[in-house]
Amino acid sequence: MTESNETTRRWLRRAGSARLEFGADYNPDQWPREVWDDDVRAMREAGVTIVSLAIFSWARLEPRDGEYDFAWLDEVMDLLHAGGIAVDLATATASPPPWLTRRHPEVLPVTRTGEILWPGARQHWRPTSPVFREHALRLVSELATRYADHPALVAWHVNNELGCHNVYDYSDDAARAFRVWLRTRYGTVEALNHAWGTAFWSQRYDDFEEILPPRLAASHPNPTQQLDFKRFSSDALKDHLRAERDLLRRITPEVPVTTNFMVMGEMKPMNYADWAAEVDFVSNDHYVLPGPQARDELSFSANLTGNIAGGEPWFLMEHSTSAVNWQPVNVAKKPGELARDSLTHVAHGADAVCFFQWRQSRAGAEKYHSAMLPHAGTDSDLFRGVARLGERLRELAPIAGSRRRRAAVGIVFDWESWWTAEQDSHPTDRLRYKQEALDWYTALLDAGIRADVVPAGGPLEEYRLLIAPVLHVVPAALAARLDAWVAAGGHLVTTYFSGIVDENDHVWLGGYPGALRDLLGIRIEEFGPLLDGESVTLDDGATGTLWTDRIDVTGPDVEVLARYKTGEQADRAAVTRRRVGAGSAAYVSTRLGPDGLAGLLPRLLGPAGVTGELPAELGGRVELAIRGDHWFLINRTDQPVDLRALPGAPEVLEARGVAVFTN
Ligand code: GAL
Repeated sequence: MTESNETTRRWLRRAGSARLEFGADYNPDQWPREVWDDDVRAMREAGVTIVSLAIFSWARLEPRDGEYDFAWLDEVMDLLHAGGIAVDLATATASPPPWLTRRHPEVLPVTRTGEILWPGARQHWRPTSPVFREHALRLVSELATRYADHPALVAWHVNNELGCHNVYDYSDDAARAFRVWLRTRYGTVEALNHAWGTAFWSQRYDDFEEILPPRLAASHPNPTQQLDFKRFSSDALKDHLRAERDLLRRITPEVPVTTNFMVMGEMKPMNYADWAAEVDFVSNDHYVLPGPQARDELSFSANLTGNIAGGEPWFLMEHSTSAVNWQPVNVAKKPGELARDSLTHVAHGADAVCFFQWRQSRAGAEKYHSAMLPHAGTDSDLFRGVARLGERLRELAPIAGSRRRRAAVGIVFDWESWWTAEQDSHPTDRLRYKQEALDWYTALLDAGIRADVVPAGGPLEEYRLLIAPVLHVVPAALAARLDAWVAAGGHLVTTYFSGIVDENDHVWLGGYPGALRDLLGIRIEEFGPLLDGESVTLDDGATGTLWTDRIDVTGPDVEVLARYKTGEQADRAAVTRRRVGAGSAAYVSTRLGPDGLAGLLPRLLGPAGVTGELPAELGGRVELAIRGDHWFLINRTDQPVDLRALPGAPEVLEARGVAVFTN
């Protein structure tokens, strides 16, 4: 895995003092010419500094094969520049035009069940199609050459949300590219047979040419084939990103290149920790998902994005001013939420706050998605809120460029474990990797403890306490790394279904939790997943769901922190901690949820010497994030919070408010 913090980051190509950028996707091609001047005027009124332009403009820029129409884009670029607004110019390759798919239907993706994804929406292209690649790069080349020296151009925006709709393609192109990828990974078909365990179910391959993507099969497709297809699919899109980027760097070496990641919710197919080294600066899109942990999930994603960016500032490319249009029910943001959402991203390292989109569409699939300038126009509470946010960001300009301050606690986030732990034919199909990690994050927020969500390839050794929920895939090297870190005084906490398999999804033998068994000083012969609605009680009063383990304590110096009181494992250990020199290794064998984890945390934080940085009475009600010398206090509640116990802070933090001060 690439360590993103080794990458040299480059921010926007623009003069002037550091600032927090503010803006949106701008789609002027959806509007008549006379609207554009109003747009620029209103952008200035709102404090917009940057827009992402031409994201879905391929059909307009190249209306016929090889015929280009740049006149309108020239005019928009000039208008924006005259208005002092910078442009993050898209390469416009996200949605192929109708002429291309008519002439070359072979670029259309194919689903697992063999259905074609037809044009009519967007992103209907195969990541591995040579025909698509050729046409896309031709457009990129034209755009880069034309706008290389345009003074408005400050960054390139490759494609858009690569993989949002087309990551898993099972076409013949994908099959060919998958075989090439497998040859590179394994070298010989024997090595592949070993890795995939093809002795099982008569799956032995004699030749790479026999291999297919895991298309709809009679039963569970080979698990390592599925895992490798996930790795391959992430790599195939990364390869597209690199192809566009390399071309852009050749033509405009001085213009930084980015693409918008989607670190949010259950968006798991793209391994962004692995992609981060490919861009000059990391960008992310985030939309709030309704639910009791909605606010915490936003913070979790922003935090993870900041760590994917290696602690350097990153660009929030999209979020929403209010409602989205793609949930079953799309609820408007409450007063204060617009600014709180935006500033939470800033607190975790965003130096740009942008939205989808500038002007709310009148037609098309996203006409009910909020924007900076709503259907109601500039005379609206929403637009006034947007303008106030623009002003706030101007005041916060001194923050721009500052790095996130590392926390004492790290939550390990591992795409390989996410992919593998949730595959089929497992002890339960109810396990949700991200949810378990998020529950720990919520519990830490409730306890007033700052934590970093950090990719498994990141600087794990820098933390005093590492929480690795469902760290399912543990290759030998990672096990050795964790052993050495704990021996040197690190404190590790891990959970059910961790340490179980190696990088080939082969079980570590001798009893669970396999690769972590000796470190934890426990041994498990059988898993004890729980049925829906079943729960167990622990002797500390906590309730466990989803999973239990039949734990035997085998190692020296293992303390039982909680036992099962009910259920099949009654009287057995439920939570253990082994002391290892100055360090320790703890194991939580059931799903406790945020409340249960909150009860457990003091017993894990204390020995690791982790204490809160906030006065105890603020714990839970506010979230603390630190960039450089700037403290961000984010009100997690709908009530004002008295901050007088905190020197340097304002006296009161308004409901859903964010206070920023130096400390
Ligand atoms: C993103 C996308 C935007 C817009 C937005 C709406 O996935 O990049 O183009 O569709 O969602 O929420």
